[in-house]
Amino acid sequence: MDPIKILDNVYWVGAVDYDIRDFHGYLTPKGSTYNAYLVVDDKITLIDTVRHGFEEELLSRVAKVVDPAKIDQVVSNHAEMDHSGGLPEIMKAIGLSKPVYASKLGVQALGGQFQNAGLNLQAVGASLSLGKEELTFMETRMIHWPDSMFSFLAARGILFSQDGFGLHLASTQRFDDELGENVWGPLALNYFANILTPYTAPISKILETVVSSGLAARIKIICPDHGLIWRKDPGRILQHYQEWVQQKPKNKAVIVFDTMWHSTEFMARELTDCLRVAGIETRYQSLKNTHRSQVVTECYEAAAVLVGSPTINNQMFPSVADFLNYARGLKFKNKIGGAFGSYGWSGEAPKQVQAELAAMGYQLPAPEVRFKWVPLEKDLDGVRQLGKTVAEAVKKAVA
Ligand code: FEO
Repeated sequence: MDPIKILDNVYWVGAVDYDIRDFHGYLTPKGSTYNAYLVVDDKITLIDTVRHGFEEELLSRVAKVVDPAKIDQVVSNHAEMDHSGGLPEIMKAIGLSKPVYASKLGVQALGGQFQNAGLNLQAVGASLSLGKEELTFMETRMIHWPDSMFSFLAARGILFSQDGFGLHLASTQRFDDELGENVWGPLALNYFANILTPYTAPISKILETVVSSGLAARIKIICPDHGLIWRKDPGRILQHYQEWVQQKPKNKAVIVFDTMWHSTEFMARELTDCLRVAGIETRYQSLKNTHRSQVVTECYEAAAVLVGSPTINNQMFPSVADFLNYARGLKFKNKIGGAFGSYGWSGEAPKQVQAELAAMGYQLPAPEVRFKWVPLEKDLDGVRQLGKTVAEAVKKAVA
């Protein structure tokens, strides 16, 4: 397979995973890529590797530039398995005694993950000479793991940003200028919402340092470990991140629910209509046909998230519990919440949902709304009141 030249002596040598659909609980309907990069200098350097199973793809791309055995050193910007799973096999081709550089925490993580692989793991200092050029390093804890770091090829202005500024897309395009922002924008937000939301506070600080240190002004190309290489306008994705870390609510609400015999669905439809009529951009998300990771992407910029559940065996519906569990881990900020649902016997679910939203720090301007048996149009005043109260709270939040 062929490498892709980024600049003279700098190549993309990664792998395209057209088939992956579940990325640790996150739906990847368009697959993904595991990007790795080769810099040919006096010391030939491989930056990051690929998921286990894609070693041959990387090595065949490298072999079109140099014999893999001639690689002198490897830099691992991030230890997660999608970038390091192939490391043991790849190091056998490169030479097990060659150094693998990582952050201090990266050395610990790689050592723990590959105990018997015989890797020569070394912690990086501030920089690493490649011969004529050098890589400088910046710790970027929590983009995406504690070990994560950026590598910067200063002379070319190339930032190797591992998970930062990535997106999940398996395609034949490698560069931002090959796809419009209308294509990559939603994918980048989907990635940020599902992977990086819990860490917006540390990421915000890292972005401030990137700007205040002067690094931002020197970046000409950003090479992440997933998706597109940003060469046309790397500032654009940086701008999106600067906005997304703020978690600033927009005039938007998400109605997310599941239903047993269509009654909670009927309530969800009325609620959707109420919010739309009140001038709120509203998304109707049925967990019957919408994956949790797509729902949280809709939630990301929404001011309000209203969650509906029927009651089954004194509990909320399993799909609703699954969604709330996933959303709790993402630690959304600045959200208004609400709960609703129909029931036949005891009807605990809406109260449980309301309590869960409270525990997640959502502002709850109205009590939960529940209806026994099958509501008719005339029975939906409670839902309409919830919609009205939430719409007022949303307008206040975004004013
Ligand atoms: Fe793409 Fe955190 O690994």
